[in-house]
Amino acid sequence: MDYKKYVYKLPPEEFYLLLAEQEKGVEVLWEGESFVEFALYEPLEGLEPLQVLKVEVLPPERAFRPVRVKNLMVLPEGIKPVVVRQGVAFGTGLHATTRLCLSLLQDFMEEGWSLLDVGTGTGILAMAGKRLGAGRVVAIDPDPQAVEECRHNSRENCLQVECLQAKPEDISESFDLLLANLELEIFKEELHRLERLFKKVAIFSGIYGRGELEHFLKLLGRKPAKIKSLEGWYGLVVSK
Ligand SMILES: C[S@@+](CC[C@H](N)C(=O)[O-])C[C@H]1O[C@@H](n2cnc3c(N)ncnc32)[C@H](O)[C@@H]1O
Repeated sequence: MDYKKYVYKLPPEEFYLLLAEQEKGVEVLWEGESFVEFALYEPLEGLEPLQVLKVEVLPPERAFRPVRVKNLMVLPEGIKPVVVRQGVAFGTGLHATTRLCLSLLQDFMEEGWSLLDVGTGTGILAMAGKRLGAGRVVAIDPDPQAVEECRHNSRENCLQVECLQAKPEDISESFDLLLANLELEIFKEELHRLERLFKKVAIFSGIYGRGELEHFLKLLGRKPAKIKSLEGWYGLVVSK
């Protein structure tokens, strides 16, 4: 439906008279000594508007956005929060490689799937997976400080994530979905081990530029289900 805003101008005494009679809301746009400029959402009988403006009506999801008041954040229902401590580990969500994974995770993960996050850093991807309805979630990182951050963050978010100090070679099980936001040099070393750690889908990220993408695709040896790019970085989805 199209809404319109009618803008009028009256001397103050006439405006206040109208205001006293008017039952609907009046928006005062400018109040001066000689006139008042105001707007209504319905035309006034017998008065020519200065302007008629089109009013954009926002859909509820755009109108009710997250609201921050000092240290409080009010979120609309349906937005799934992940709280991350800005500690020593990688993974605040500011980096494009992390955001690629967060996006692909929402497109490819199904509720109840088991999930392994390799190179978890703060645990951001593992926590996001759990928040989105994953079943068992295991997060590994060889860096003990990352494991500590992952544990701290999962606890703070009340999310059950198993955070382990480990490398892919230490994991013997396989999971429905694998997340690995690493880098090309690590993929050269680890990709063959990562292949046996997932049953359905793997999301790989941390590949920068066309050159690295071509190199990664050669290592992979098959066509990914999806390639997504952001700020020069690439995220890939591989299915079995
Ligand atoms: C780019 S960060 C990703 C952090 C987080 N998952 C994210 O998406 O923001 C890569 C992480 O991989 C870890 N890492 C480095 N070498 C690794 C290896 N061989 N296997 C598993 N993780 C590794 C690092 O300690 C680091 O925390």
